[in-house]
Amino acid sequence: MNASVSNLIDQHGRRKRKLRISLTDRCNFRCRYCMPEHPQWLPKSQLLSFEEIVRVARVMVADGIQHIRLTGGEPLLRRGLVDCVAALDALRGQGLQRISMTSNASLLAPLAAPLKAAGLDDLNISLDSAEPATFERMTGRPLAPVIAGIDAAVAAGLPLKLNSVLLRDDNGAQIVALTEWARARGLPLRFIEYMPLDTPGRWQREQVVSEAEILAALRERFDVQALPRGADPATRYVVDGDYQIGIISTVSNPFCASCDRLRITATGELYTCLFAQTGTSLRTLLREGAADAALLDTIRDAVWRKKAGYVTERGPVERPITMHAMGG
Ligand code: GTP
Ligand code: 5AD
Ligand code: SF4
Repeated sequence: MNASVSNLIDQHGRRKRKLRISLTDRCNFRCRYCMPEHPQWLPKSQLLSFEEIVRVARVMVADGIQHIRLTGGEPLLRRGLVDCVAALDALRGQGLQRISMTSNASLLAPLAAPLKAAGLDDLNISLDSAEPATFERMTGRPLAPVIAGIDAAVAAGLPLKLNSVLLRDDNGAQIVALTEWARARGLPLRFIEYMPLDTPGRWQREQVVSEAEILAALRERFDVQALPRGADPATRYVVDGDYQIGIISTVSNPFCASCDRLRITATGELYTCLFAQTGTSLRTLLREGAADAALLDTIRDAVWRKKAGYVTERGPVERPITMHAMGG
């Protein structure tokens, strides 16, 4: 096939190039916008092995996936992670162009250099506040190990972006402070509208700080100019002429029309949308010894049936799986 054209296409004509693979539903943090208060972890026997993950990745890369993002829960909790990155790195000759990871970075310090050496290209790190008390209130864990992780990533030469989910009553008034903190360190920052994907019944629209409000807060302090929108989930802005921030506004301005993503949960369910209520199990097929062609048929069929997305839902989604098990 032509390496730049993906065969993974949905009924709305959107081709898939990005695959998010969750390595574990477990997390050492307890971000309230992501986790239930008392999470029930999945039995480890249900998780895909690295061998199974790399097989699915290989089949999907051969069909058009160019970018793999490893997620969790917290991916750094999965033992053998560096070897997994190295095994994925071997898929570059087959069309894979980029391997990324989304992490809370608290366990990153000793792993940043080995991950880079194994083939990791870049990282997105959750940082909701640079103020220790707010950070701890929001995540249930201290800030210092995260800063150490960020420093280690920079020292290892791993490009990174910071993700900040805004909750009005927690970090909602720290938009300028966090921007100044990240800008002083030259780290790209993205603000994320709080999405209705956490524990059913907990999301409150009043807690969402919208893109318009984020921009209003920034414009009280900085000159802010919009950049043209790409396929990225974030709208990008230039702050005071020399620093870029992004805003991911799923709630007020969904980017579903250009969505090129797929996700696989740690237990091997293929979800074609962050807001999908059900997935398609690939684990059964893998463990029943299905051939690559059968695996690919199932994947293509699920992708084809992908719905329009949140753009047609616009409200809390009731589903059996919460954000930490979906991989953000
Ligand atoms: P890059 O654009 O490649 O940097 O990655 P990313 O922004 O998708 O990755 P990241 O894991 O940092 O996600 C940032 C935010 O975007 C999180 O809050 C995600 O939940 C949200 N997000 C990621 N993928 C999707 C998606 O398919 N749909 C929607 N609506 N939001 C998404
Ligand atoms: N709304 C928006 N973003 C969320 N994340 C987790 N839960 C939510 C939510 N309810 C983000 C995290 C992380 C990424 C993987 O997903 O901040 O950066
Ligand atoms: Fe863990 Fe990330 Fe969810 Fe926070 S947002 S609980 S760090 S998976």
